[in-house]
Amino acid sequence: MEALKAKLQDRKATAAVIGLGYVGLPLALEVAWAGFKVVGIDLDQNKIAALKAGKSYIGDASDKSIAGAMATGRFLPTLDFAALRDVDTVSICVPTPLSKSRDPDISFILSATEKIRKYLHAGQLIVLESTTYPGTTDELILPELESSGLRVGRDFFLAFSPERIDPGNHFFNTRNTPKIVGGITAECTEIARIFYSQFIERVISVSSTKCAEMVKLLENTFRSVNIGMVNELALMCDVLGVDVYEVIDAAASKPFGFIPFYPGPGLGGHCIPIDPHYLAWKLKALNFQARFIGLAAEINGMMPTVVTTLVGEGLNRFSKSIRGSKVLILGVAYKKNVSDCRESPALDVMRILSDKGAILSYNDPLVPSLRINGHVLKSVELTPATIASQACTVILTDHTAYDFRRIVAASKLVVDTRNVTKDLVEFKDRIIKLGAGNNVASLAEHENDDEKAAVSLVAR
Ligand SMILES: NC(=O)c1ccc[n+]([C@@H]2O[C@H](COP(=O)([O-])OP(=O)(O)OC[C@H]3O[C@@H](n4cnc5c(N)ncnc54)[C@H](O)[C@@H]3O)[C@@H](O)[C@H]2O)c1
Repeated sequence: MEALKAKLQDRKATAAVIGLGYVGLPLALEVAWAGFKVVGIDLDQNKIAALKAGKSYIGDASDKSIAGAMATGRFLPTLDFAALRDVDTVSICVPTPLSKSRDPDISFILSATEKIRKYLHAGQLIVLESTTYPGTTDELILPELESSGLRVGRDFFLAFSPERIDPGNHFFNTRNTPKIVGGITAECTEIARIFYSQFIERVISVSSTKCAEMVKLLENTFRSVNIGMVNELALMCDVLGVDVYEVIDAAASKPFGFIPFYPGPGLGGHCIPIDPHYLAWKLKALNFQARFIGLAAEINGMMPTVVTTLVGEGLNRFSKSIRGSKVLILGVAYKKNVSDCRESPALDVMRILSDKGAILSYNDPLVPSLRINGHVLKSVELTPATIASQACTVILTDHTAYDFRRIVAASKLVVDTRNVTKDLVEFKDRIIKLGAGNNVASLAEHENDDEKAAVSLVAR
């Protein structure tokens, strides 16, 4: 333990990162900039080739930073797991998706662990960073690694340290986001703390791997539940004829006991829509039903349908149906200023509209093409003529690059799911805003009164 400690503190250790995606690549670069030699291992030949050529494939790492790290000679991307033979630390950053039946798919963790076991040697620190259910590190990884004959806490060290990266966040990055570490033994926690303290400003130790696993799930369940609550509030505000954003912003003036969350077209990304299911799945096996998680998933999951209902209601004002109408989707990435479309609610909105017969097109400055219902769509150029040719423009992602005044001015009808049109009062008659009093029930009431129905659809 003392030898590894000294190597870490002197930054003479060699680190490995397995899985060079949104999480692993920024981590590997940060470790290299701290002065460590870093082996980056991935199964994806294209990613390894890109890195070797000094090219990035994610927004949070520039070509310049990759080329710079390669030029130091300390960043070594490879497809070859045999490189693990000579490393002192291994951080596992592989995906943890859901299976088709929406159960945890930890096959990527298991496959990486098998490779690590093959090259495990005394004096190594292994850290799992992938988000997973409580118990993964001590119930699955530990027995596999100890099957090598080496003992944890004596020969090697094992910890869980959840990744908290927020893609697209220009203020919080790997270095200045506090890091949680929890080891199998106190020695494991301490070694992991020393490793991360070399390149992360604040490292917080917890008492076990299970606690560290649970911390990450609390953070993401907190977001999922609060977003679910505020999405339901948006639906309530539609019924009540109140603008949900005005309500939230006014409530946020309370300096204590309130954190604002905002409604939207649904959850997206690799974390918030998925991670709470890992927790619920584990608890189900223990005969405990995670009710908040289930309810939030239900409400968040119906938001794409709510958006398509607003599109239908808007077209109805022009005596049009979704079938046969041209609908332009603006923004398909799951959040602003990123190119990541994993689990993006835009995909669901587009699938539903396509199933209903809409003639779909989309624009996203960060996503050049997209596959929907078996068809590949290409991002269209956003000219006033393109926008004007559409029956409806649906704003799903509020990328900074969009000039919403120009977009709305050229549109016949706009469905706004991100409150980006709040100041465009001069265009209010053509805007339908999620959570702003678009009461579908009151429309039915005014079925024979076109004028009143149109008024009730207009954002207040
Ligand atoms: N993306 C985020 O914002 C974020 C934030 C916090 C935590 N996480 C968690 O971090 C983990 C990784 O997420 P990500 O977004 O970086 O995923 P990603 O898909 O971007 O990257 C994972 C990489 O691992 C590689 N890979 C898969 N199996 C491998 C194996 N056996 N050996 C080597 N490489 C392998 C893939 O080719 C890919 O490049 C997940 O558990 C995720 O939940 C993600």
